Amino acid sequence: MKNKHEKFETNVGLFAIFTILAISIGGLVEITPLFFQKATTTPVDNLRPYTALEMEGRDIYIREGCNVCHSQMIRPFRAETERYGHYSVAGEGVWEHPFLWGSKRTGPDLARVGGRYSDDWHRAHLLDPRSVVPESNMPSFSWLDENKLDGELTEKKLATFNFLTRNRSHKDEQGNRIPLYSAADLAGAKDAVKDKTEMEALIAYLQSLGHALK
Ligand code: HEC
Repeated sequence: MKNKHEKFETNVGLFAIFTILAISIGGLVEITPLFFQKATTTPVDNLRPYTALEMEGRDIYIREGCNVCHSQMIRPFRAETERYGHYSVAGEGVWEHPFLWGSKRTGPDLARVGGRYSDDWHRAHLLDPRSVVPESNMPSFSWLDENKLDGELTEKKLATFNFLTRNRSHKDEQGNRIPLYSAADLAGAKDAVKDKTEMEALIAYLQSLGHALK
């Protein structure tokens, strides 16, 4: 009797198509439910949007590639929670675009670094990591203290986040979505960051990390 498998196993094209189909189903079964689970789409209660300055700091964090050496994702293992604090939950990251969870830890996880050190410590560390951590192999980012923000794009950035989070923001009592940033936030965005240094913005961002759930 001829084996039906033979049809697939002797035809590379057909075999490839069915392999892709099988893998896709496996992937979709894992991923699709996450789009509909409330815990993964609802912000945690204390989550607040980044201020204009923190938002600029976040962009600098991305520009300088901090996320290449630092993750922002504490896994639910004892070794991690003892060191970094409560494990990361999806509700903390619903407003992250793009998310900065990272996949490599040359340095420590930063998901809850906010409040762990003073602003002065961060400044000294970013200017010259070895001045505060002698064995550090983190590069120095001294130019951040010299570059000033002009705030030209800050309002647009906040408006974009209003758009990206339009189905994920907090709700008022009537169940209507409250945009992350009000008209006043948008109007004041430029003045809030203008002439601040990139260093100040980055430190503000670092200090904001992880507060929603400590
Ligand atoms: C080449 C890899 C690398 C890059 C890029 C890098 N870091 Fe680090 N970072 C480290 C290492 C290693 C440590 C641990 C030693 C130390 O504290 O300096 C560290 C430590 C830190 C700490 C202290 C964390 C703690 O809990 O003690 C902070 C905050 C930090 N980095 C922020 C940043 C920021 C912000 C950037 C981007 C401007 C950045 N790092 C870029 C490697 C890196």
